[in-house]
Amino acid sequence: MKHLITPNDLSNNEILELFEDAKLFSDLTSNSILNGKLVVTLFFESSTRTRSSFEIAAKRLGAEVVNLEVYTSSTNKGETVEDTVANLNAMKPDAIIIRHKDCGLPESLKSYVNCPIINAGDGKNAHPTQALLDLFTINEHFNGEIAGKNIAIVGDIANSRVATSNLELLPRFGLNPILVAPKRFKVISPYKTVTNIKKVLNELDIIMSLRVQHERHEVTATAEKQAQQKAKYVKKYCITKKLLGDKEMLLLHPGPVNRNIDISDEMLLDPRSKVLKQVENGVAVRMAILKKFILENKVC
Ligand code: NCD
Repeated sequence: MKHLITPNDLSNNEILELFEDAKLFSDLTSNSILNGKLVVTLFFESSTRTRSSFEIAAKRLGAEVVNLEVYTSSTNKGETVEDTVANLNAMKPDAIIIRHKDCGLPESLKSYVNCPIINAGDGKNAHPTQALLDLFTINEHFNGEIAGKNIAIVGDIANSRVATSNLELLPRFGLNPILVAPKRFKVISPYKTVTNIKKVLNELDIIMSLRVQHERHEVTATAEKQAQQKAKYVKKYCITKKLLGDKEMLLLHPGPVNRNIDISDEMLLDPRSKVLKQVENGVAVRMAILKKFILENKVC
C-alpha cells in the first residue's frame, strides 16, 4: 500500500507524471475517473484551503466525500485516533486524508488501514501536498526552467511544515533555498540563512512568505513584549512593494495570509503575487494525487 506522508514518498518521475495529470485537470472541470470511490477527510486542526481543496478535488473526479467532524466524533469521548481510523477503515473508504497537530501521527496510522493515507499536515513535520502544489506553481511560472532558481523561504521556518516539506522537495528539482528568518525562527540547515532579506534580494527569483505559527509557540513574553516583537517582525519580514521595488519576482504564500504582517495589502494585489493561483493549482494537483493513490492501490 502506498501512502503520501512526506514528499519523499514520491520519486521525481512520479512527481513529473503527477504534474502532467494536474495540467490536464487544470480547468478544474468534472469527470468520472473516481466514480464509486469514497474519500474520508479527518481534520484535527483547523483548515480552510486544504480541506476544501481535497473535497473539491475528490468531487471533481466523481468520488464521494465524508468529512468527519472531529469535534463531534468519539475522539471527544476518549477514543484514540488509531481506533477512530481503524473504525473508519472498516467502512472501506478508498483514501483517508488526515491533518493532526502531532508530528508523525499519519505515519503511525499506516498499519491500521487498507487504503492510502494522505497527510494533510502533521504538526511542523510535513505537508506534502502543499509542497507539491508550490513546486507545480513554480514550474508553471517558469515554464519548467526551474533548476538553479533561488527561492527565499521567509518567516517562521522552525515551526512550519510547509517549510519542512518544501526544503525536502524543492532542492530535488534544482531549486536553491535561502532561509530568511529572525533568530527565534531559524533552523540548523545546510542552506544559506540570513536575518535580513535585503542582503539576498538581488539573488532571488522566488519568495515564499510564511505565517508565524503562533499555535505552535509557547507564550512566555508579556503582551507588551509580544506587541514589540510583532512590530519588529513586520518591519523586517513583511513583503512590501517598497521592499521589492520593480524587481521581477514570483511571490508565494501557502495561506492563510496575515495581511500586512506576512505580505502587504498592496503586494497581494500586485501581479507578482500568485497566492490565489496556488489555491487554484492546489485543486488540480490534489486531483492528480487522489487519482494516482486511489487507482494504484486497488486492494482497497
Ligand atoms: C498551512 C498549514 O496548515 O500548514 N496552510 C495550508 O495548509 N495552506 C500554513 C499555515 O497554516 O500557515
